[in-house]
Amino acid sequence: MRQGFRGEIISFTDDPSFYGDKAVSHQKDGIIVVENGRVIARDKAEIIKTQFPDLAITDCSGYLIMPGFIDSHIHYTQLDCIAAGGETLLGWLEKKVFPTEQKFSDKAYATETADFFLKECLRNGTTSTLVFATSYFQSVEALYNAALKADMRIITGNVLMDLAPKALADKIPKSLDDSEKLIQNWQGHGRLGYAVTPRFALTSSSEQLAGAGKILGEYPDILMQTHLAETKDECAAVKERFPKAGDYLEVYENFGLLTDRSVFAHCLYLSDSAFHRLAKSGAGIAFCPTSNLFLGSGLFNLEKARQLKITMGLGSDVGAGTSFSLLATMAEAYKTCRLQNYNLDPFYAFYLATLGGARLLGIDRYVGSLGMGQEADFILVNPAATPLLDRRTKNASLEEKLFALEIMGDDRAIAATYIKGKLAFGGIDHPPI
Ligand code: GUN
Ligand code: ZN
Repeated sequence: MRQGFRGEIISFTDDPSFYGDKAVSHQKDGIIVVENGRVIARDKAEIIKTQFPDLAITDCSGYLIMPGFIDSHIHYTQLDCIAAGGETLLGWLEKKVFPTEQKFSDKAYATETADFFLKECLRNGTTSTLVFATSYFQSVEALYNAALKADMRIITGNVLMDLAPKALADKIPKSLDDSEKLIQNWQGHGRLGYAVTPRFALTSSSEQLAGAGKILGEYPDILMQTHLAETKDECAAVKERFPKAGDYLEVYENFGLLTDRSVFAHCLYLSDSAFHRLAKSGAGIAFCPTSNLFLGSGLFNLEKARQLKITMGLGSDVGAGTSFSLLATMAEAYKTCRLQNYNLDPFYAFYLATLGGARLLGIDRYVGSLGMGQEADFILVNPAATPLLDRRTKNASLEEKLFALEIMGDDRAIAATYIKGKLAFGGIDHPPI
């Protein structure tokens, strides 16, 4: 079926922090035309109406139509330890996270949590994610099954952690064989993808890290996700365990884990050399500001990474992160940058949450910019979602509207979420106009 959606359409064709207006695709009164789950046309309303005179149109006037958000780093297995405070990273993992992740030995719990997780993503306008599961095989399958049912573009992987508390510790070669089994069964199935997922350097033996690197090398379509240089204590522990490595990044580098398909979360304490090596490799960074602030980990230097043209996206990093909303995440990103005298303008923030994330996850062919032929994962954002947002955005320019949403927006601003053109959350039945 062919369907049009009329509203103020905004997306990016490239990074607006480098290419300015040329990277912004904006129709103040536009229509996107969706057929069989894909965008087949997009233009000013008057043009589309003459091209498709009989088109059935959903009137979304007053709403912003934009690509669904892409969350570049999240743990679906930490929903029940979100907002568990009082600790920094290593203590928090030990006391709050590992006991929670052990619950995934129960298949019914994994299935229920996976369903809840995807619904919460949709409620927050997130249509694609790169997700950590746990070291239990069935926790990965539970998420794949739920994502297949929801027809969502989700990438996940079995967490490798053979140096962990007993209940969660896996073993080699089984953990690596399991990863391969999951790749063979799920990579490219529907809209699903696989990421080989060593938790971080401290929870894997050298043999397991080497095995992860080997798998990454053998399967050219998969990603690698891990954590890097999130806290000073973590960096000190890595230095102690790997005294010969010049820095933390070199540990991953030595095991073949630094590639253009590698996504590193956090990266707060990278040396200058590490920043440059990371840029050169084509690897990317998931910027997780709510998590960095919740755990007191520190401030990510977005501007340095941006100048080096490192591919980046925004990560909620729930459960260290405090919100599923990438709008709420943008606000913390803005404040993180402000403290370093950099201004995270709204166009760049929304780019990071859409096309930036899609590029980071290697899925920008399919989603992220509502371009011709792309899968129609999109959201309707209400710039008047609260009385104060309404007041602040009335008669505002696009930039002012986006900025108000960047700073004050959250799940309340997501009026509807569409997956491949089908309504998957919410709906409108009218205001705004
Ligand atoms: N480093 C290793 N594991 C984790 C995790 O689950 N969350 C965060 N924020 N950092 C980590
Ligand atoms: Zn994480």
